[in-house]
Amino acid sequence: AVETTLQGAMPFPMGAAVNISLLKNNSDYRNLVVKEFNSVTAENAMKFASVHPSKDVYNFADADYLVDFARLNGKRVHGHTLNWYKSLPDWVNNFQGTTADWENLLKTHIQTVVGHFKGKIVSWDVVNEAINEDGTMRNSIWVQKLGADYIGRAFQYAHEADPGALLFYNDYGHEFGPTKRTAILNLVNSLKIKGIPIDGIGLQMHTRVTQSDDNLINAINLAAATGLKIHLSELDIALNPENNQTLTFTAALGAQQAAKYKTIVKAYNAIPKNQQFGITTWNVTDADSWIPTNYNRPDWPLPFDAQYQKKAAYQAILDAI
Ligand code: XIL
Repeated sequence: AVETTLQGAMPFPMGAAVNISLLKNNSDYRNLVVKEFNSVTAENAMKFASVHPSKDVYNFADADYLVDFARLNGKRVHGHTLNWYKSLPDWVNNFQGTTADWENLLKTHIQTVVGHFKGKIVSWDVVNEAINEDGTMRNSIWVQKLGADYIGRAFQYAHEADPGALLFYNDYGHEFGPTKRTAILNLVNSLKIKGIPIDGIGLQMHTRVTQSDDNLINAINLAAATGLKIHLSELDIALNPENNQTLTFTAALGAQQAAKYKTIVKAYNAIPKNQQFGITTWNVTDADSWIPTNYNRPDWPLPFDAQYQKKAAYQAILDAI
């Protein structure tokens, strides 16, 4: 039902993680988002430190700007993220309180944020990156203060605040192999069995051109076997995972990348239609990708180049759908 109202060139729910200052100040960037994508995720503007910078202060200005942009331009909004071990403000990291105080902090944050956007945000990443790469539970501040069962309560709090929102568990590394993937799927299955309101799994898919097709396809198929909705929530395909400081982009690298995008989108397109929630790339173009900044290297992970032109990967995505 949501899909029929979406506006943007891609013929399926195709989103991008958006930087609010570029959206406001760079008309080429804004026009590209308007033209090509039909869903948006805030790259940072809905994270804890952004919306809740001190204990009794919420700041929704940037997030509201994105939601208004989406409403004006027919885009779906995916909320990211209600709970994470990163992007926490100092006041949370330094918070002193009883278990009940921490529970109240968790609940109040989730319900204030979800409540603020009730009816405007279709879906939320409720909990982000709770599992380590060795399959154990990440010893985050939330687990330290509240124990691992906080995860189910986070979903319940979100559901109470907006019963209409679709709720996702989001993580990376499904494609690394069985260890982390199995732990994630065990977690979401255990939530389902307990009757926790979870609707979907976000596979971040920050991947690389050297990742095997088998690993990528298995990641998508095994997540879909849970019966939950599947969001490829942060897709990008690195061309320079070895951090070669002098690497340059070539058409050959672009072709390999396009083939990898095609493999991923084909696998997504092959799962049952009612589980296909959408695909979101993490950022819009190679110029604003988080990868070069975060990993301090040249890279070109996205379907649009730094001049905002379509790369081979763009056509590969269309060909796969
Ligand atoms: C990243 C942003 O892109 C950066 O701008 C920020 O400095 C750190 O976070 N997994 C996630 C995203 O779930 O929220 C991260 O976004 C990328 C990895």
